[in-house]
Amino acid sequence: MPSAESHPPLRVALLGCGVVGTQVARLLTQQADDLASRVGARLELVGIAVRDASAPRDPVVDRSLLTEDAEGLVRRADIVVEVMGGIEPARGLLLQAIEARAAVVTANKALLAEDGPTLYKAADDAGVDIYFEAAVAGAIPIVRPVRESLAGDHVRRVLGIVNGTTNYVLDQMTTTGADLADAVREAQDLGFAEADPTADVEGYDAAAKAAILASLAFHVRVSIDDVAREGIMAVTADDVAWAAHTGHVIKLLAIAELRDADRGTGRGAGVSVRVHPALLPTTHPLANVRGSFNAVFVEAESAGELMFYGRGAGGAPTASAVLGDVVSAARHRVLGGKGPQESTYADLAILPASAAVTRYQVRLDVDDRPGVLAQVAQALAAHGVSIEAVRQPSAPEAVAAEGMQTPAAGAAQLVITTHAAPESALAATVEAVAALDPVRTITSVLRVEGA
Ligand code: HSE
Repeated sequence: MPSAESHPPLRVALLGCGVVGTQVARLLTQQADDLASRVGARLELVGIAVRDASAPRDPVVDRSLLTEDAEGLVRRADIVVEVMGGIEPARGLLLQAIEARAAVVTANKALLAEDGPTLYKAADDAGVDIYFEAAVAGAIPIVRPVRESLAGDHVRRVLGIVNGTTNYVLDQMTTTGADLADAVREAQDLGFAEADPTADVEGYDAAAKAAILASLAFHVRVSIDDVAREGIMAVTADDVAWAAHTGHVIKLLAIAELRDADRGTGRGAGVSVRVHPALLPTTHPLANVRGSFNAVFVEAESAGELMFYGRGAGGAPTASAVLGDVVSAARHRVLGGKGPQESTYADLAILPASAAVTRYQVRLDVDDRPGVLAQVAQALAAHGVSIEAVRQPSAPEAVAAEGMQTPAAGAAQLVITTHAAPESALAATVEAVAALDPVRTITSVLRVEGA
């Protein structure tokens, strides 16, 4: 390998100087000698594009590098690092960088989930690297493992907790019994949740990450519009208490799974990608992912089960992933070679939400009289949905003591867990059960995953 002195410095342009950009600038400066030794050339931060160069900045940022001329900066870089977020101007600047033959590193999940293929194609055409480890689950190495380390295997399923804000909120509800609004407010006070938490609590952030992971895992193009999405806003303290009572925790899961072709029905192979709250058995490794941590659980044919765990957000953790990508791109500049291209060879349909196969746990209040359970069971059977377990808690005092609501006088609560069935059959079953005369209310419907 050439010494750092023998190769001309590589010019790095940074687009964005928020929480992550500040830490990228700090690490590029403070670790300059180590990075030079690892790359074989010095990495010279030549500018930081910001909207307002006069705004206050962390003192670790060299103000002389700040510029409001992002386009000019991009033209004089070997590697462009984009941590500004949003669709434009990020997309336009990255395309300009690629056209100018710069390698690009981006943390922009929203852009990749909406229009990644445009960037991947431009990078392939130009023969430059595009890396995006920080776009999914912050510091956790998951893009590279799925894109490169598992390239010789067949991934069957990816289950991820990829949003720290919602994991914090659900974890607080589990450990303190808080209701959702209070837990969200606490997350905001602690700086985990944004003032407008919509992207997190409605599942958009997780859906973007699910789309990126599904594309990489299954070699197909999946955009955020293909992801069936449900946020956590309907999860109640009562749901969380019942989850604990039945040996589960509630997590917001990003799920991407392969469905094999079925010769019998002629149905083709496909990929289901979805984000929704789900009950996970407390014995599942993801059930123990606490607070704002992230984790991704991968099931592959030969590798078996793998789990990747760590910090999914924050300045320094996300900057760690960005710097790893910068080093990879820089090494290629020094030694030759190129990172992987987009891989979309697989002939797989992206399945609609109704085709997902899952299990339901349904809680309902019914008239407490003979024959009611039989009627409910009959409605499930009529839709081909098999029951795994029925619980009818008998002691209201015990139920209340565990923080769960008790049914009204003359009513009984049933908790029905099904075996796996297509989402369409499960949803139709719930509708049919709700229409039964002795059924007073469907209190809650939650999917069960990870069994
Ligand atoms: N807001 C995200 C989270 C981090 O809460 O995990 C950035 O994707």
